[in-house]
Amino acid sequence: MNKKYQPSASIAWSCLKALSQEHQPAIAELFQKEPRRLQDFSIDACGIHYDFSKSTASKAVLDQLIDLANQSPLFQAIELMFSGERLNLTEGRAVLHTALRDSTGSDLQVDGENVEEFVQQQLHSMKRICDALRDGSWTGCTGKPIRQVVNIGIGGSDLGPRMVCTALREFAHPDIEFHFLSNVDGAEVKQLQQQLDAETTLIIVASKTFTTQETLLNANSLVGWMEQQTGKSRDQLGNQLIGVTASPENAMKWGVPEANLLFFRDWVGGRYSLWSSIGLPIAMCIGFDGFEQLLKGAREMDEHFRTTPWRRNLPVISALLGIWNSNFRNCQSQAIIPYCERLGLLPDYLQQLDMESNGKQTQRDGQPVSYATGAVLWGQTGTNGQHAFFQLLHQGTQAVPVEFIAAREDSLSDPEHHRVLLANMIAQGQALMQGQRSNDPHRSYPGNRPSTTMLLAKLDPYHLGALIAFHEHRVFTQGIIWNINSFDQWGVELGKKIAGQLLSGSDEVTDPSTANLLKQAGIWAGE
Ligand code: F6P
Repeated sequence: MNKKYQPSASIAWSCLKALSQEHQPAIAELFQKEPRRLQDFSIDACGIHYDFSKSTASKAVLDQLIDLANQSPLFQAIELMFSGERLNLTEGRAVLHTALRDSTGSDLQVDGENVEEFVQQQLHSMKRICDALRDGSWTGCTGKPIRQVVNIGIGGSDLGPRMVCTALREFAHPDIEFHFLSNVDGAEVKQLQQQLDAETTLIIVASKTFTTQETLLNANSLVGWMEQQTGKSRDQLGNQLIGVTASPENAMKWGVPEANLLFFRDWVGGRYSLWSSIGLPIAMCIGFDGFEQLLKGAREMDEHFRTTPWRRNLPVISALLGIWNSNFRNCQSQAIIPYCERLGLLPDYLQQLDMESNGKQTQRDGQPVSYATGAVLWGQTGTNGQHAFFQLLHQGTQAVPVEFIAAREDSLSDPEHHRVLLANMIAQGQALMQGQRSNDPHRSYPGNRPSTTMLLAKLDPYHLGALIAFHEHRVFTQGIIWNINSFDQWGVELGKKIAGQLLSGSDEVTDPSTANLLKQAGIWAGE
């Protein structure tokens, strides 16, 4: 990729800056001035309708945003990602989560291994375990069929499977319960134990590195409890213990039987890993066919991203609008509001995907950035949010772009409830845009608050797969245009290191506040 690339030095960046300093028509006026706005500012792809006509970008702004993409190495970077180039340059790793959903028989090799063969092998193992679990032939150490599954992991080894299993509850196995344990808060472990039967529980320890403190402590506690309850040792728990990891040596050292190990490679980042064997709880929950549909939705979004001109390219347009908002409209956060309770964990999932990827201040060549990068992403479901924080979205002093997400149909809901739910979402988009005039200054505000709306045909594995892949590519596109590495997370590593040092009592305390807090919390008395 072009080593000299500097986004803020491009002509398009300067034009966007100039446009942002000129008077921009309000969104409502843009509909008057641009008669084709609705058609030009909406895209349909992979069963998702995306309406971005209520953004603050005019046609002239959109043209410059497209130029910004053209003047960046985006086109080349997409090809490099799909072909296994080591785009994660600080860790020297390829970025190939797309290969996990590609079944086109490519002969891609990474570190001397055929990627497709490896992926197919792992899918085969997942299917074997998942089918046996669902038909009751995967039994625990006393011969009883497994009825509860606990996934122990954190971050990317938790959020994806947890979010997808929650979202796709309609398709879940009726007799198997799924639990997710991530936080090292011991009260959660104890509460979970009360809901489990140690003889019919399967533990999946999911950790890319198999060194994550929280995951290993949680796994030790829960497996220790199972040993106590069943009177069996860790080795004798047999099929009640599965490990999913990119570090098999660490997993075996910890005590996962070799036969129960599933793998993924370091060319899959944790936050991009739900398509790999990390997705085992998903396949168990919705069935392997459902998991394949999830992969299919993502694969078709990959194809759309790779082959569609920028102007009709859903992830690219969404990424460019994010750049317009962050870099030229001074919006420092982005709200994600799903109008569907089952998508309640989507904002949490996207928080990791986006903020761990693009929360960076150094360009790919090591130079500091001179512009804003990743926005603070947050949100919760509507209509609940309307009765909580929407006041600030309508009348607060900062503009927060909102992304509304909903499914057109919901076979789990009642038609009247669904109509009311969707009407509320659409009403919020209009209200944010139009504001209100009144003689009472407290009731008067200008609106012109941007929003975009995504309508999925329905909330099923295919459309959810497409939606998640859309966000992955949106984040990727922004990372490339901002010239940052979206695939490392060194800031997080420092926190882990210091926690270890503080717990071990090593003399790394740098300040009186930290020393006092350790004393107050009863962790370490110090000198
Ligand atoms: O939070 C940092 C992080 O490294 C994430 O990127 C990752 O998903 C998570 O911790 C868990 O790591 P592991 O899967 O190695 O336990």
